[in-house]
Amino acid sequence: MIIAIIYFSATGNTQRIKNVIKEELINLGNEIQEFNLANRSVRENFSSFKLFDAVIFGFPVYFWRAPRLVREWFKTKNGMNRRCSLFFTYGGAHIGVAHHNMKQILASCSFNLITSAEFLAKHTFNVAGFQFMENRPDNEDFKIARKFASICHHKFLEEIVNPLIFDLPIKSEEEVDKIEVSFRRAIPTPYIDVKLCTECGVCQKVCPTNAMDITKGKARRNYCIRCLRCLYNCPEKAIKMPNMTSHYKLMKNTLRLTDEILKNKKSRIYC
Ligand SMILES: Cc1cc2nc3c(=O)[nH]c(=O)nc-3n(C[C@H](O)[C@H](O)[C@H](O)COP(=O)(O)O)c2cc1C
Repeated sequence: MIIAIIYFSATGNTQRIKNVIKEELINLGNEIQEFNLANRSVRENFSSFKLFDAVIFGFPVYFWRAPRLVREWFKTKNGMNRRCSLFFTYGGAHIGVAHHNMKQILASCSFNLITSAEFLAKHTFNVAGFQFMENRPDNEDFKIARKFASICHHKFLEEIVNPLIFDLPIKSEEEVDKIEVSFRRAIPTPYIDVKLCTECGVCQKVCPTNAMDITKGKARRNYCIRCLRCLYNCPEKAIKMPNMTSHYKLMKNTLRLTDEILKNKKSRIYC
């Protein structure tokens, strides 16, 4: 089969899981074409799914769902009844309504979702004081990723597959919209330490939304999606993030996340 892996990875976690899935699918005899939607040009130039027998989508969880710009990208897409699978990486805080929401989006663009999975991964904001899932994904997560790839391969080939069913979401879309707006407002934007910056332009180039403004030394607040791709990619380590330890403590308390609960979280497959 020719399988497309379409993913969004700003800081590498989703990409690492994707790499394991890709390797396993190649071992099983498939040809893979991959697209990282974090790159503006990839998002803009992607033309059609008709070249592929099946598709695997992989996204990070941002505020309980796939990133907004990914959800919007699907608005003009047609899956032409292709079979697809989906996986998320998330920082262990809350998977939210990610699976259910994306299942609906995929159905509305004529995709047939047959398998899904979620993987624990270091929280993006650990660089700014969070302490969620620091050493994940680990070998156990990669093992589950390999198993997921094998399940996808076999289900893509099966004559008949059962539809994938998720529990009803714990909150409505409107409630999750409100959560997203309030979280986003509360999260600071990255800024440039001018003493370290050589104006190489990498931060502007890698930003998924063209939000970084070198001349002002900071990201434009309304465009910045807080993915921190600029910070993780800056060769001079000149991009900084204000400390978010108080956000971390508040989130941990509100969600009642004890160290024990966090330690016992596991990656999992739905099929
Ligand atoms: C803006 C933003 C929002 C996030 N929201 C959540 C969330 O709701 N729940 C969670 O557990 N992790 C959340 N995370 C953590 C990411 O899902 C996690 O670190 C992910 O693996 C990052 O993927 P990447 O490295 O491929 O970009 C968020 C991260 C960012 C940057």
